[in-house]
Amino acid sequence: MNPKSLVNIGDYSQTDILRILESAARFKQQPNRDLLKGKVVATLFFEPSTRTRLSFETAVNRLGGRVIGFSDSATSSSTKGESLKDTILMVSNYADLIVMRHHLEGSARYASEVSPVPVINAGDGANQHPTQTMLDLFTIFETQGTLEELTITIVGDLKYGRTVHSLIQGMSYFRPTFNFVAPDELHIPEKYKQFCDTKGIPYREFTEFSPEAINSADILYMTRVQKERFTDLMEYEKVKNVYILHDKMLEQSKENLKVLHPLPRVKEISQDVDKNPKAYYFEQAKNGMYTRQAIICDLMGIDAQ
Ligand code: CP
Repeated sequence: MNPKSLVNIGDYSQTDILRILESAARFKQQPNRDLLKGKVVATLFFEPSTRTRLSFETAVNRLGGRVIGFSDSATSSSTKGESLKDTILMVSNYADLIVMRHHLEGSARYASEVSPVPVINAGDGANQHPTQTMLDLFTIFETQGTLEELTITIVGDLKYGRTVHSLIQGMSYFRPTFNFVAPDELHIPEKYKQFCDTKGIPYREFTEFSPEAINSADILYMTRVQKERFTDLMEYEKVKNVYILHDKMLEQSKENLKVLHPLPRVKEISQDVDKNPKAYYFEQAKNGMYTRQAIICDLMGIDAQ
């Protein structure tokens, strides 16, 4: 049976993931189809977003569906004290599927448990961002021709980066090797190291953004330091520009290397990298639309052959 909601990438089996990726490839060939005619999708964004919200909304529009929702929770009745449960129950009266981003870890799981319609987690605090992982996996397959036995170097905010946490879980089906590059303050949480240990996934930790970490990689996954998760902004100031990728640092990298980033970037990828054929982050973001079309249709039981 297909999953009812997409809350955590770990809720999806390898078979589920591969089914979505195959469907996304078909949507990339043909994104404009009337598969959601008569359907309404709600996008509830309690936190800011550019790519995730707009790619979900474009995905629905290109499939002939309609979108309701808010991009700023200050315009919703949550500011009057309405609970998340009541908000979800209300919106499920109007919409066939709910896409939600929220600052609280676990909020998407809770929403999926109270909702009579499918819920897609568009990011819950520092926890998970499973649709980002799905588009990351799609992009990795598109650029490498396989998901198997790749070396992924993940750089930056490994503590608060929800895209990192989801990616580790999503890649775990495909025998990866990880290089984790982070300052001490933002190192990968123990639970993800334990997860790798349990799965027999090799990893190395670096505090320097070293040539070894770059040149051994098939995928260089850069991330932004998540300012919004810091309670002490002095701590953020100390680490905000800790690693910056410049074009010349890619000179000895593997032929097949691609540089990915969930975006938005601040300064962690210098603009001189953008023209390098190994820079793939804008195409990666575009792939979000196709993978989200595939995820929505899958959860709604719509045949997207
Ligand atoms: N990658 C990502 O989640 O981007 P947004 O915050 O712009 O949605």
